[in-house]
Amino acid sequence: MVMDIRFDAVSKIWPDGTRALDDVSFTVPAGQFCVLLGHSGAGKSTLLRCVNGLETSTGGAVQVGGQSVGPASLRALRRRIAMVHQHFALVPRASGAANVMAGAVASLPLWRVLTGLYPTPLKHRVCELLQAVGLEEAHLVRRAERLSGGQQQRLGLARAFMLDPAIILADEPVASLDPAISHDVLSLLRSQARGRGTTVLCSLHQLDLARAFADRVVALHSGRIIFDGPPETLKGSDISNIYTKSDASEAAVPLRLRFAI
Ligand SMILES: Nc1ncnc2c1ncn2[C@@H]1O[C@H](COP(=O)(O)OP(=O)(O)OP(=O)(O)O)[C@@H](O)[C@H]1O
Ligand SMILES: [Mg+2]
Repeated sequence: MVMDIRFDAVSKIWPDGTRALDDVSFTVPAGQFCVLLGHSGAGKSTLLRCVNGLETSTGGAVQVGGQSVGPASLRALRRRIAMVHQHFALVPRASGAANVMAGAVASLPLWRVLTGLYPTPLKHRVCELLQAVGLEEAHLVRRAERLSGGQQQRLGLARAFMLDPAIILADEPVASLDPAISHDVLSLLRSQARGRGTTVLCSLHQLDLARAFADRVVALHSGRIIFDGPPETLKGSDISNIYTKSDASEAAVPLRLRFAI
């Protein structure tokens, strides 16, 4: 089943008063590859984490496939939402295959996870996905830490697709990779998502990659949306707005502290 993501006046104020998200409203239709842009601290990770309940908004609501994200729905929703991380979040000493299988543990009884007795269809799925992301049999048995960064992120993608998620949240999935490999990894993410109707919300720092892969760009600045549209409509002035940090954060630092450090 495909799912959209709806942000309705979402705000997040941290206990120290930092306003990470400020009245954010937009809908990512099912199957869209939507890229979040914004300077460091703009609120991209916070917004992504509100979708799978890793953070809770302090105002507004997030809906996934028409269902509100909250304590009552979270367990079921998490099976439909996968995440891809900047630093891959693999188990370094476990094999490639075990790392991909980890994407299915939410669907398994505890005894299977503890004994490692996985159902045969899931083993087939691991092989299928490893192939789909361009890895070979040798990578299946090798420890994840012995693979290159690009190969590790391919494992991260295969793991994310294990339960055929409706939504993939990718938080700077290529920030640790060189430009050519970044291109390959995003291209894989997009083609795999397209083929399955997966909705992707992906934060990126690189504008060229957003231009190459996004169906739509949503740019945040200090927690507010300052651009929303197809990447080809981004103008020079939009780009300088996106990457100009507001001086609010500087002003928020007490004068005494500014001189103390
Ligand atoms: N746990 C936390 N407690 C307090 N403030 C936080 C916490 N997590 C994030 N913030 C603040 O919330 C704001 C948004 O942070 P967030 O991590 O969402 O930004 P980002 O756009 O992902 O930045 P980056 O590009 O550096 O990853 C920042 O001001 C950050 O310092
Ligand atoms: Mg971030």
